[in-house]
Amino acid sequence: MKHIFQKGKDSTQTLLLLHGTGGTEQDLLPLADLIDGNANVLSVRGNISENGMPRFFRRLAEGVFDEEDLIFRTKELNDFLDEAAEKYDFDRSNVTAIGYSNGANIAASLMFHYQDALNTAILHHPMVPRKGIDLPDLSGKKVFIAAGTNDPICPASESAELQSLLQNAGAKVELFWENRGHQLTMEEVKAAADWYKNK
Ligand code: MLT
Repeated sequence: MKHIFQKGKDSTQTLLLLHGTGGTEQDLLPLADLIDGNANVLSVRGNISENGMPRFFRRLAEGVFDEEDLIFRTKELNDFLDEAAEKYDFDRSNVTAIGYSNGANIAASLMFHYQDALNTAILHHPMVPRKGIDLPDLSGKKVFIAAGTNDPICPASESAELQSLLQNAGAKVELFWENRGHQLTMEEVKAAADWYKNK
């Protein structure tokens, strides 16, 4: 997968950056500095192009995911992380995803399908990636969800549902609300940074 890797001063921690629809691997680089300026950074571009807009998996319509492709792309990203950990010599068991929108959805999907894909996840405006499946045991995993009370793409009830699905699987989940829509705000990034430092 097309990506950027930057070795950090503290190479025990790796931040995996996953952009939103139409973004690139450049987009979330400023967030890495705000969350953990010493960590390794692995920023990946989604392999799907929707009318020229990069994404991490196909969708059939706004908010309606192509489930078969989601499963395939989730495995592809998990395999890529295994390969990248070998190539760049980082600790595969200590990866924190930072995802926005479509990138947050594939990060959540990694946790829904693979027990040890991610240690920690910061999800900005995620949805429930798949309904009606059993999640792996996520004991010890930590998740921060930033959601908007007026998000037209992800209704508030879906953010609460994602929190409870992850919690029921054993993860420790913090849900941060803003009285905003789907946009990624500096307030939620600061809240994520505070949470990350104290987690
Ligand atoms: C998705 O397709 O992953 C969500 O609808 C968010 C987005 O618009 O990217």
